[in-house]
Amino acid sequence: MRVVITSRMPAVAEELLRAARLEVAIDEVGHDASEERLEERLIAAMAGADAAITVLTNPITATVLAACNQLQVVANCAVGTNNIDLAAARAGNIVVTNTPGVLTEATAELTMALLLAVTRRVLEGDSMVRGGGFEGWHPLMLLGSSLSGKRLGIIGMGRIGRAVAIRARAFGMEIVYFSRSRADEAESSGARRIGFDDLLETSDVISIHAPLTPDTHHLVAAAALAKMKRGCFLINTARGPIVDERALVDALENNLLGGAGLDVYEDEPRVEPRLITMKNVVLLPHLGSATVETRNEMASMAARNVIAVLSGRQALNQVG
Ligand code: GLV
Repeated sequence: MRVVITSRMPAVAEELLRAARLEVAIDEVGHDASEERLEERLIAAMAGADAAITVLTNPITATVLAACNQLQVVANCAVGTNNIDLAAARAGNIVVTNTPGVLTEATAELTMALLLAVTRRVLEGDSMVRGGGFEGWHPLMLLGSSLSGKRLGIIGMGRIGRAVAIRARAFGMEIVYFSRSRADEAESSGARRIGFDDLLETSDVISIHAPLTPDTHHLVAAAALAKMKRGCFLINTARGPIVDERALVDALENNLLGGAGLDVYEDEPRVEPRLITMKNVVLLPHLGSATVETRNEMASMAARNVIAVLSGRQALNQVG
């Protein structure tokens, strides 16, 4: 049976598949094209395959799934599956899997990196030193905001939200969260569930850890931004379209927010040009799970899901 991997990735994926006596083709589909063109490339790569390991920049649409009529499983090498038409996969009896758990810590660590970088003006300090502008310690130089004693509002209290809560608590922050359901584990480590507006109005830092769904699309738009405490910092390591990026930039321009730390964008890899020149914004290129350890685990998990399904067993991480 034949498995297509749509991007170069850690070798462990290919090794596991070959060890299971599967034929493997690596076909780098890329992401620098229109959705239609990407669909064509995906179809060319995946037609005739029994399984595919995909990445989050691959639009696995109904059109792609319909054209790949041998597919039994799409193993997305990501925890998010918003790039896949899950209803079309279900209708076509195609199993979809993701990689939960193994990227929780890495994403929480990156969230803390953004949170610290933006509140303590790390990039501005770095630029000052590199640019020769550091002329000696000064009591008023590059003052940031303390985290200790401040309130962190977490939107979406799943695995990653909880891992962020634990880390932020170690920094002395008070944790509140907004989530559809009560997260008992988070509550037992001191986080408190409150309403969305309450979270917006009272948090000093807000960090987003929800999946992108029709319900969360533009959850943080102009109305929500207007409710945020003046000077609030917004961190997004989840998915760009949860935030209305234009409204965010307007809020930053009008000094409603203190700053933002972004790892994800509405229309990746495009970044709203006005963000580029803002000093109180830290911009990363979707690095949440980008550690050697985590990417190895993700690739391995995707391969093990493919092997399970092609051997007639239940997938380890079936979505939906
Ligand atoms: C990364 O963004 C993921 O969903 O794994």
